[in-house]
Amino acid sequence: MPPKAPSIALSRQLLAAAHNIQDVLSGQSLSESLAHTPTELRAAAQALSFYAMRHLGLAHGLRDMLVSRTPPDPLTDALLLLSLCLMDSSLGHAQDGADTSHAIPVYAPHTLVNQAVEAAMHHPKSRAYKGLINAVLRRFGRERDPLLRTLEGDPVAQWNHPQWWIDTLQTAWPQYWQVLLQAANTPGPMTLRANRRQNTPEQLQNFLDAAGIHATLAGQDGVILSTPQPVQAIPGFAQGRWSVQDLAAQLAGRLLPVADGMRVLDACAAPGGKTAHLLERHSLALTALDSDPQRLERVAQNLDRLRLTSPSIRLCAGDAAHTASWWDGEPFDAILADVPCTASGVVRRHPDIRWLRRAEDLPRTAALQQRIIDALWRVLRPGGHLLYVTCSIFPIEGEQQILAFLARHADALRLAAPGYILPHAESSAADQTDGFFYALIAKRG
Ligand SMILES: C[S@@+](CC[C@H](N)C(=O)[O-])C[C@H]1O[C@@H](n2cnc3c(N)ncnc32)[C@H](O)[C@@H]1O
Repeated sequence: MPPKAPSIALSRQLLAAAHNIQDVLSGQSLSESLAHTPTELRAAAQALSFYAMRHLGLAHGLRDMLVSRTPPDPLTDALLLLSLCLMDSSLGHAQDGADTSHAIPVYAPHTLVNQAVEAAMHHPKSRAYKGLINAVLRRFGRERDPLLRTLEGDPVAQWNHPQWWIDTLQTAWPQYWQVLLQAANTPGPMTLRANRRQNTPEQLQNFLDAAGIHATLAGQDGVILSTPQPVQAIPGFAQGRWSVQDLAAQLAGRLLPVADGMRVLDACAAPGGKTAHLLERHSLALTALDSDPQRLERVAQNLDRLRLTSPSIRLCAGDAAHTASWWDGEPFDAILADVPCTASGVVRRHPDIRWLRRAEDLPRTAALQQRIIDALWRVLRPGGHLLYVTCSIFPIEGEQQILAFLARHADALRLAAPGYILPHAESSAADQTDGFFYALIAKRG
């Protein structure tokens, strides 16, 4: 008799991931949702729900063709969507060995059908729909090829992003939008930043090598792991030897012109990745500001872990756009404005973002960014520098924002900085960065 335990576990994993998918479809982020998933199921539910996020356009297209009416129960619908994209992966693999290497195993189609039905049985709301799930998945098994052919002209099913997102990228990057969408569906490498107060990147590389973890040097302060690992499995984290940070994000700590002793503002600081990088490289009189007091707590924890805490660092909860509530009247020599954004450049690490954002978020977010940088400009000393950063590749938050800023401020002078850093999936690991936008602006003296 085949062992029973693994198959029981799969149905539980499917149900847990279906809860996560349901949460995202009702507006909650995957990380918030996964925080409520039972610990023993979390890793599996994360792998499954991440996979589903990257295939949700296809799953919706299939569900719309296979089910005449969307099940009124959202949990059942989420389970159906998840099962459909897993079935597609399994059938594709059986047919042509298609690459399904997104950190999920390839399940036999009949196992998936049985386990999806069993998952439905575990919950009172979905139990009534077990027959529907069984019938839909079996029909998909029989009719996959013609159903997929029907969806060939559907961009949402092809690219697994909402139509407005695809349209925005196509308009902004007419030569490159497909590369961007492909990269967004490809999990990125795991990159660490060496804490230079404790070790150089070369020393970190040797330290990891001694623990059996292979990594290559990348950028000025980074190493890229050959195989991503859970943070707890990598030695040296609690001791503050390194932080997880993408190479594109690591540019911020180097692009802002600062020197020891300067008065620096990190205006949108939490959870403190870039604050820490600045402090690893220089001894600064630094104010780390964030409007979210809970997230600001994480700045304190990170600085503590990295052994960077000092009396010259001030953590402050406040709105960067309303300087009167937190500014002491002394101008800053340099300001890092890593403003809130749609995060369209980091969707490969947060594949739920594309389904959580709405087209209306774009002008609203851009207006907030404008308010923040206009206010920050007033607290920068003449001769000082402001580095504007977003992890977005939408022009309204990047180049358009900065051109409008320069038009509003006659005393602003744009200096050389990379501008957009665009993700792509088919190059070496060191080139596979997140998407960012950087603009460096000097205030005329
Ligand atoms: C892109 S994240 C910053 C990431 C951070 N710099 C890092 O490297 O770890 C943007 C931050 O801006 C904060 N924020 C949003 N609106 C703000 C405002 N009006 N004033 C200050 N901070 C704000 C958010 O709470 C969030 O922590």
